[in-house]
Amino acid sequence: MKAILLAGGQGTRLRPLTIHTPKPIVPIFNRPFLHYQLDLLKQVPEIDEVILSLSYQPRRIEEIFGDGSALNIKIRYVVEPVPLGTAGAVKYAGADLIEPIVVFNGDVLTQIDLAAVIRLHRARNARATIVLTPVENPTAYGLVETDPEGNVRRFVEKPRADQVTTNHINAGIYVLEPDTFGRIPSDVPWSIERSYFPSLIERNETFIAYIYDGYWIDIGTPEKYTRVHRDIMDGRYVTAPFLDLPAPRTSVAADARIEDGATVEGPCFIDQGVLIKAGARIGRYSVIGRQTRVDEDASIDGAILWPNCRVSREASVRDAILGRNCHLGRNVSVDGGAVLGDETTLTDYTRA
Ligand code: GTP
Repeated sequence: MKAILLAGGQGTRLRPLTIHTPKPIVPIFNRPFLHYQLDLLKQVPEIDEVILSLSYQPRRIEEIFGDGSALNIKIRYVVEPVPLGTAGAVKYAGADLIEPIVVFNGDVLTQIDLAAVIRLHRARNARATIVLTPVENPTAYGLVETDPEGNVRRFVEKPRADQVTTNHINAGIYVLEPDTFGRIPSDVPWSIERSYFPSLIERNETFIAYIYDGYWIDIGTPEKYTRVHRDIMDGRYVTAPFLDLPAPRTSVAADARIEDGATVEGPCFIDQGVLIKAGARIGRYSVIGRQTRVDEDASIDGAILWPNCRVSREASVRDAILGRNCHLGRNVSVDGGAVLGDETTLTDYTRA
């Protein structure tokens, strides 16, 4: 059985982080995001190959994962000549397949039991199975209504509060039968949610839901990207490098240097080659990427810093995200919600 990972989107909501780093490989701590999805797919023995469906900056992704042998999984790449939308991408990548395919959005982190989803798909002899997950505020999403037998009945895009009939949203995980792909045009972008799934409902085909209420999040916005890190540090999503750490889960690489007189409060993550100078403070929920240097009396609180940043003396960074190679001058202050692209330089005393 094959799995297709949809990883070709431009990730516009995560800009500027995605200008040089496609969303599927933004780091979660020190690992490109897709590693977490590949770990999940590897747990299903039936899946013998993963097809990465790419369009935006494909080479950056291929360079990281190669043929998959280093990860013990077979990986193949299909690069679209132009972006085909989520349904077009599945058809393009799965053109030669005859068996059911697992399809996964390349931006969701979850601990779902995929083998159970595949079993349900087979037991119901479905043409398509969609995983649904409950959310607290469904108005920001597209809702999916089902009947008591678990058949999908309707998609409702971004409903007003008075139109909310369910809190189930599309989790971006499907099992599909390739012989339903004939309806997807080959030359214009087509969306799975807005075009392909409604066509199954219109034709009264067996289209069923698998409800999953365990851990699920998509990393598509800076807020959710930050939340994923906090959830992992809180132990809500079980993974290395926090797996074996006792609370408050302070992970410091063996070769990181924390000078006497610096303070570090967990939970936090300090990667290889980091230098924290005397008097600096690393506060809770901070993530300090490889080779980053935090100078005397600087403070970092709840912020995520990608590799090779420099935070100069007395600077403070709170609840922000910094791309690679950012340089903050002396006494700079970067506050809640700021997202700085790679190579940003802020001169001394800047407020951002
Ligand atoms: P935004 O621009 O911020 O909406 O992000 P996105 O481009 O990733 O779009 P979205 O979150 O809707 O995409 C869901 C998943 O489908 C992501 O994993 C994307 O990488 C993937 N995706 C979206 N459009 C395409 C496409 O045209 N081709 C391929 N291969 N994948 C796509």
